[in-house]
Amino acid sequence: MTTVPTLVPEPRECIDLGGTLQLSDVVAVAGPAGITATIADLLGEGIGAILLPRSVAASPEHEPVVLTVDQGDHPPGGYGLSVDDSGITIEYADHEGLVNAVQTLRQLAGPAAFSRGHVPGSRPSLPHVRITDAPALAWRGVHLDVARHFMPLVNLYDFVDNLALHKINVLHLHLTEDQGWRFEVKKYPRLTEVGSWRTGTRFPDWDEDDQVPHGGHYTQDQLRALVGHAHSRGITIVPEIDLPGHVSALLAAHPEYGEPGNLPDGVATGWGIFTEVLHLDDAAMELVTDILAELLEVFDSPWIHVGGDECPRDQWRNSERARTLAAERGLASVDELQPWFTQQLRSWLADRGRTLVGWDEIIDDDAQVPGAVVMSWRGTEPGLRALAAGHQVVMAPGSTLYLDKYASDDPTEPRAIGGHIPWEKVASMDPYEGVEDDQRDGLLGIQAQLWSEYLVTPQRVEYAAYPRVSVMAEVAWRGGPVDPDQFRPRLAAHLERLAVRGVNYRPLDGPLPWQTGGGRYRRIAK
Ligand code: ACM
Repeated sequence: MTTVPTLVPEPRECIDLGGTLQLSDVVAVAGPAGITATIADLLGEGIGAILLPRSVAASPEHEPVVLTVDQGDHPPGGYGLSVDDSGITIEYADHEGLVNAVQTLRQLAGPAAFSRGHVPGSRPSLPHVRITDAPALAWRGVHLDVARHFMPLVNLYDFVDNLALHKINVLHLHLTEDQGWRFEVKKYPRLTEVGSWRTGTRFPDWDEDDQVPHGGHYTQDQLRALVGHAHSRGITIVPEIDLPGHVSALLAAHPEYGEPGNLPDGVATGWGIFTEVLHLDDAAMELVTDILAELLEVFDSPWIHVGGDECPRDQWRNSERARTLAAERGLASVDELQPWFTQQLRSWLADRGRTLVGWDEIIDDDAQVPGAVVMSWRGTEPGLRALAAGHQVVMAPGSTLYLDKYASDDPTEPRAIGGHIPWEKVASMDPYEGVEDDQRDGLLGIQAQLWSEYLVTPQRVEYAAYPRVSVMAEVAWRGGPVDPDQFRPRLAAHLERLAVRGVNYRPLDGPLPWQTGGGRYRRIAK
């Protein structure tokens, strides 16, 4: 009798059949054309050297284990997986389902299957099981801010692979901010020439900035390749261009799209909410749609995020030009400029077959943007309001899923933005809390946020993400909370996989000495 290893997220149904299938040197894949390559690609890391589909391997030592793959009748993202003496069988609903099945297969093969390369001498075996599985929530997302601190491309690939092993299927890439513009726009090269870097960085309690230039951007080809890689891992990348606020980097490059009396002093070096916003005249609308047109060429996601958060109206209220503009557009006041803007973009995107996503401010003051997806970050109340108004909603509440907050109240945590969200709090989240029965279908899913003001390196991002993202993946997959006491041993077992991969996760008992920060990156007492 074997024991099936802990699987995270836990499948809907997993029957332990007893017995073990020893994997031979060769696994032959039988299935529709194209599947072999997909499986090889997905398994190509840790167990790749053993679980490599080489149907015509040169003089194999053993009879190959046969992996039979076929499409079957399962809900979206779902799959069936069985292992017995006759081999391995996968039945998948769709591409995402196939990817999910293979991720489960890796987890069944033991932590070594998560190594980046083949561990010499390892000969994985699989327990005899029959698994039937499908996700409860369609949007199992993680947001990453690559604007406050740039994430090198190689680390983004890594980030995608680590999400995929948790069956996360959306990476929301926050590409623009006051502190940096990361998306190459061919028609407006100054956006990256000027907007992609800042002269230094200043945390609020520092007397001055560190005078260390910080920056970087991604070319369109780099992002296209990343989109393809993510797709092969079952992940859709949802790009965000944050508008019409949070645009200091844009205005540093192109002050002509702002208000002459209210322009930023270059790309921002510190954090906050800035009053310098777009002046929404026809020229700015052309700029915005030009940028979005290039964005659509790179990202094939059905959803396009246009921000909408934290756009103060002071500039417009103080501007004669803005008041005239609002009147010309038939609006009662400048306060209607942002709803008008969102509605313009919603319809422009819809004409191109895409759906607008925005932070929950897009429905403030009962603004009407029918068909827009609302991302609820100021708690879940705006999301519940949006559901009642007929919107699809992604719950991304700051109180539970802002992973830039401290992972505990321990004074040794490395510096974070403030507040704390232990993994147990993530585990206890019920995505459907407060949702009326007849509005449940509107809840697309949930999403964790990694804002990077204080996540200054890829290691810090990993520390903030894990294990809280592993926990969120469990909640999203099951569509309900998980009891932290029951989950703890499962989480501990799962962390062995991340350890094999070398992920800089936070151990359940607290940070390791070199994870505590220090110097300027020490926790500050509040
Ligand atoms: C946000 O945290 N400003 C969406």
